[in-house]
Amino acid sequence: MPGPLLEGRVAIVTGAASGIGRASALRLAREGAKVAIGDIDVHGATAVADEIDSAGGAAFARETDVSDEIAFRSLIEATCDRFGQLDVLHNNAAALGNARVGEDETVTTLDVDVWDRTMAINTRSVMIGCKHAIPRMLETGGGSIVNTSSGAAILGGLSGTAYAISKAAVNALTQYVATQYGKQGIRCNAIMPGLIMTPAVEVGLTPPVVDMILDHHMTPEAGRPEDIAAMVAFLASDEARYVTGQLIRVDGGITSHAPTYADLRRMMNGER
Ligand SMILES: NC(=O)c1ccc[n+]([C@@H]2O[C@H](COP(=O)([O-])OP(=O)(O)OC[C@H]3O[C@@H](n4cnc5c(N)ncnc54)[C@H](O)[C@@H]3O)[C@@H](O)[C@H]2O)c1
Repeated sequence: MPGPLLEGRVAIVTGAASGIGRASALRLAREGAKVAIGDIDVHGATAVADEIDSAGGAAFARETDVSDEIAFRSLIEATCDRFGQLDVLHNNAAALGNARVGEDETVTTLDVDVWDRTMAINTRSVMIGCKHAIPRMLETGGGSIVNTSSGAAILGGLSGTAYAISKAAVNALTQYVATQYGKQGIRCNAIMPGLIMTPAVEVGLTPPVVDMILDHHMTPEAGRPEDIAAMVAFLASDEARYVTGQLIRVDGGITSHAPTYADLRRMMNGER
C-alpha cells in the first residue's frame, strides 16, 4: 500500500481559517504535510492549526494579510525557518464573505477603490506568494503551486465584475508561472471551483440564488470544500508530476453545458 501522498512535504495554505482553505490545510496534513496557515482571521487559523496538531500532524498559524508583501514574505520565511523547506503553496485567500471589500456590481457602478482592493487581495497576493515562494522551493529542486481561481473567471456575469476579473488574472498568472519556472521543477495550476458550500456562500448568497446556481450544475448537489481539497492534494503531490499550467474546473459541470441546459431539462421532464 502506498503511504500518504505528501509525507515529508511542507505546505502553506492561505485563507485557511475557513471554507476551502481550511479543508485544504486539513487534507494536506492528513496526507503527511507539515502545514503553515496564513489568514487575516488569526483565531480561525489557530483553531485549524490546533485541529491538525491534535490529530498528530504539525501546523502553525500566523496572522497574514496576503495583499501585504512584507507580511506574506514573512509567512514564507517563518515556514522555512520552522519546517526547513517549502514544497507546496496553496494561494486560496480572497476578498469574499466576511472579508468582502465593498459593493462589486456592474462596471458603471464600480468604485475604483473596491476594484483596487479586490485586485490586491485576490490577484496581487498570488503574485507575491509566487514571487517569494519560488526561490525557496528551488532550493530543494522545485515545488507545486495551486491557485484557487473561480468559474467566474471564464464567463460573463451581471455582477461581481472586479472579483471575476481578478480571478481571470489569476488564471493568466498561473500559466505564466508554470511557463517561466517549469524547467526548474515548479508546477503551477489553478482550480476553478463551482458552487462550494462555505461560510462565504452563506454570507454572500441568498438561498434562492444558491438554488438557481445549483440548478445549472450537472451534479445533484453543490460541492463541498473537501471536493476542492482532494484536487489540491493531488496537484500538490508527485501523482501530478506531469500536470502543470492547467486551469482545472472542479465545478459540477456548470461551465460545461449549453446556457439553455436547466430550462431544457425542466421542459423534457415535463415541468413546463
Ligand atoms: N465557495 C465557492 O463557491 C467558491 C467558488 C469559486 C471560487 N471560490 C474561491 O475559493 C477561495 C476560498 O473561498 P471560500 O468560499 O472558502 O471563502 P471563505 O470566506 O470561507 O474563506 C476565505 C478565507 O480567506 C481569508 N481572507 C480574506 N481576505 C484575506 C486576506 N487579505 N489575507 C489573508 N486571508 C484572507 C478569510 O479570513 C477566510 O478565512 C477563494 O479564493 C474564492 O474566491 C469559492
